[in-house]
Amino acid sequence: MSNSDFGLIGLAVMGQNLVLNVESRGFQVSVYNRTTTVTDEFVAKHPDKKLVGAKSLEEFVQSLASPRKVMIMVKAGGPVDAVIESLIPLLDKGDIIIDGGNSLYTDTERRDKWLSDLGFRFIGAGVSGGEEGARKGPSIMPGGPASTWEVMKPIFESIAAKAEGEPCVFHIGPGGAGHYVKMIHNGIEYGDMQLICEAYNIFKAAGFTPDELAEVFTDWNDGDLESYLIQITAEIFKQKDKKKPLVDLILDTAGQKGTGKWTLINAVENAVVISTINAAVEARILSSMKDKRVAASKILQGPKPEIDVKKKKLVKKVHDALFASKIISYAQGLDLIASMGAEKGWDLNLAKIAAIWRGGCIIRARFLNDITEAYRTNPKLENLMLAPFFTDLLNGFQENWREVISIATLAGIPVPAFSASLGYYDSYRSAVLPANLLQAQRDFFGAHTYERTDKPRGEMFHTDWPDVIG
Ligand code: 6PG
Repeated sequence: MSNSDFGLIGLAVMGQNLVLNVESRGFQVSVYNRTTTVTDEFVAKHPDKKLVGAKSLEEFVQSLASPRKVMIMVKAGGPVDAVIESLIPLLDKGDIIIDGGNSLYTDTERRDKWLSDLGFRFIGAGVSGGEEGARKGPSIMPGGPASTWEVMKPIFESIAAKAEGEPCVFHIGPGGAGHYVKMIHNGIEYGDMQLICEAYNIFKAAGFTPDELAEVFTDWNDGDLESYLIQITAEIFKQKDKKKPLVDLILDTAGQKGTGKWTLINAVENAVVISTINAAVEARILSSMKDKRVAASKILQGPKPEIDVKKKKLVKKVHDALFASKIISYAQGLDLIASMGAEKGWDLNLAKIAAIWRGGCIIRARFLNDITEAYRTNPKLENLMLAPFFTDLLNGFQENWREVISIATLAGIPVPAFSASLGYYDSYRSAVLPANLLQAQRDFFGAHTYERTDKPRGEMFHTDWPDVIG
């Protein structure tokens, strides 16, 4: 019987939870997984739900009402293409395929063209929120034709998280725009996580125990730093394993699947500075070089990683440093979205993007309300730092921010993301930078010419520099 409202391929954790979410909103859902036992077990586990478990792709496609809506939740890259290829002979023109994985936006653009040339409709949707978000309400970033979005809107709006009563989903833009914005979301996620880890490292050097840190993070989560990542960090510090704090037993080597690296590549291509996110990606890379670090720790010298500041005072200072750096990280990520949006003619709405990040996703945070407000007030905002609310915060935080970086640096504690953030702030607010000397160097060795402070902009000069090679 062709009467399911929605179909999902790929019953890994995210897929299963999304299916249960869609079904709970009153839709009948067909499911298919390459390994049939997974489908059978999943359907058997939920006998009271309107689920149709298909044993073959043919059966799956035939069980869907027209126009068919098929969401693919498989590993990004080749597996997505493989599923699409096997679906093509089975679908009718006008049917809709949605890729809900963390696909690279350029792959999404290629698939969009490929499928629309064949008469199908395609949506590349970023879905954030992990397992819990998928089940209870994720933040969804869909890209593709507006007319296709209109067809999907009722389902997506019903399953998305709600923030201030608004669904955390809207049509981001055409083609790869949705997956692009999800990629930047992940870049910002990397930044947030690294900044929290640097705060943790400083606290550790000041003698804080995991139990004390659980308290600090719980307090922070009751204040202006309230966010999902601060909240789960508090929980992590509470977790014990064999009576020991679990965090102390976890090896310090970070994994990554690639979205952070893609964000960096895109930033370089667009000549946009995202130094905080850059530092976060590089910190993961350095963390993964465990053996090299252990060897170097016996050779390269530094001060004792000890911080002697009253705990209460330190908590306030680190709070300010963390919050200031976090503002910079979002300022950079949003700047990249704005630049890329303009470059691609995507007409991206930054206020709405910030608004759908307020609920469901990994980077959800109280201050996204203020970011949303800043872009609602001024959609053409040059940089988040320049919105009066954030300017006031940064002006208030900067003293403690500098102090925290100094204290950490003097104790030999690496704070690459804190430092990169402050470096961006100080560079951005410098009316004069030392690039005059750099221009002189370029002109010296390559006759690249320079502009002068005493002449109009655009007029180029060259100096006959002395010969130094003898
Ligand atoms: C989300 C997450 C999710 C995933 C990351 C993890 O928004 O729900 O970003 O997509 O957990 O891709 O990425 P790494 O493995 O690179 O940390």
